Amino acid sequence: MTQHVRGVIAPGKNEPVRVETILVPDPGPGEAVVQVRACGVCHTDLHYKQGGINDDFPFLLGHEASGIVESVGEGVTEVAPGDFVILNWRAVCGQCRACLRGRPQYCFNTHNARQKMTLEDGTELSPALGIGAFAEKTLVAAGQCTKVDPAVSPAVAGLLGCGVMAGIGAAINTGGVGRGDSVAVIGCGGVGDAAIAGSRLAGAGRIIAVDIDDRKLEMARRMGATHTVNSRSTDPVEAIRELTGGFGADVVIEAVGHPETYKQAFYARDLAGTVVLVGVPTPEMTLELPLLDVFGRGGSLKSSWYGDCLPSRDFPMLIDLHLQGRLDLGAFVTETIGLGDVEKAFARMHEGDVLRSVVEF
Ligand SMILES: NC(=O)c1ccc[n+]([C@@H]2O[C@H](COP(=O)([O-])OP(=O)(O)OC[C@H]3O[C@@H](n4cnc5c(N)ncnc54)[C@H](O)[C@@H]3O)[C@@H](O)[C@H]2O)c1
Ligand SMILES: [Zn+2]
Ligand SMILES: [Zn+2]
Repeated sequence: MTQHVRGVIAPGKNEPVRVETILVPDPGPGEAVVQVRACGVCHTDLHYKQGGINDDFPFLLGHEASGIVESVGEGVTEVAPGDFVILNWRAVCGQCRACLRGRPQYCFNTHNARQKMTLEDGTELSPALGIGAFAEKTLVAAGQCTKVDPAVSPAVAGLLGCGVMAGIGAAINTGGVGRGDSVAVIGCGGVGDAAIAGSRLAGAGRIIAVDIDDRKLEMARRMGATHTVNSRSTDPVEAIRELTGGFGADVVIEAVGHPETYKQAFYARDLAGTVVLVGVPTPEMTLELPLLDVFGRGGSLKSSWYGDCLPSRDFPMLIDLHLQGRLDLGAFVTETIGLGDVEKAFARMHEGDVLRSVVEF
C-alpha cells in the first residue's frame, strides 16, 4: 500500500525548500523501501536547489543516509527487512563495460528505483542522486542498500553515503595516497576534511589544509592536517611549495569545485604528481590552462566521483575502522537537526561553522 510520509522538497530554482507529504509506493521488483534513520546535509543538495545539477524540479532532497530496510520487492536477495544499511548512489550493475572489465567502482550504469515517488497531486519527484532521503521513508533500488554493522550510530553511518566517502576515497582510491606522500587539500568542508582523514589513514607525511576560513582550518587540524594555510591572506601555491621543499605536494585534492581553486591545485602539485578534482563545478564554469604546462608538469589530472568507491567493499571496512577507534567519523557530525531545519542548515553551511548538519528521524 502506498505510504504517506514527510519529505523535504526543492520546488524550483533557488526557492526555499519545504516539508511536504510525499507518496512512497510499495517496492517493485528489485526495489526496497527504507525507513530513514539519519541523513546529512551535503553541499550537493544545495547545488540541486540552486539548479546547478539539472532542471528536473521538484527534487526530493537528501542523499547521505542510513536506515532500516522496511520491505523489499520481488527478486531482492541482497538485503532483507530489518537490515541496517547505508544508502549508496553507486548500485553496481555488473553488466556495463566498466563492470565487465572488473572495474565496478566506475560502474557507468548504476541504477535507481524504477517507480517514482510523488507529491499528493501526483507530481513526480526527482530524488537527489537517485536517493531522496530527507524523508521518513524512501524508495530505492535494492542495490543502493549496503549492509553495515548496526553498532554504529545512524548519523555517523549516513555520512559515508556521500561526502565523507567521496573525500576519503578521493585520497585513498583516486589519489592513491600512500605512506610518506605529501598531500594538500583545498577546501576543508566535510569532503575536504574527509580527504584529510583518509590521507592520515593512508600514512601520508605532510598533510596541508587550505581554506579561506580559520574555523575550518582548526577543524582540519583535528582531522589530521599537519599544516594549515588561509588562502584569503596567503598565496596557497607558494605556501604549499614552501612546505614541500619548494616543489609542491605529491597529491593535491580540490574539494571546492571552482576554476580558481583548481588552478591552485594544478600549480601546487609537484612534477608528476596527481591532482584530484572532487569538488563539483557548475555548468557555466570553464577552465583555461597553458597546454604546455599541462604537458610539461606531467603526472595525472583526475576527477573523483564518489571517491571511486565500491560500497560493498568500502562502507563495511570504514565502519569497522571507526568502531575500532581508528577513524573518527563522529567528528564530522557538528549538529543533529529535524526535517524542518534543512533550509537553516544550508544557511549555516554558508556561515562556515558546520562540517555536517545531520537530520535525525
Ligand atoms: N565528487 C563527489 O563525488 C562529491 C561528493 C560530495 C560532495 N562533492 C562536492 O564537494 C564539494 C565540497 O562539499 P562539502 O560538502 O565539503 O562543502 P562545504 O560547503 O561544507 O565545504 C566547502 C569548503 O570550501 C571552502 N572554500 C570555499 N571557497 C574557497 C576558496 N576559494 N579557497 C579555499 N577554500 C574555499 C569553504 O570555506 C568550505 O570550508 C562540493 O562542490 C560538493 O558538491 C563531491
Ligand atoms: Zn556497471
Ligand atoms: Zn553529497
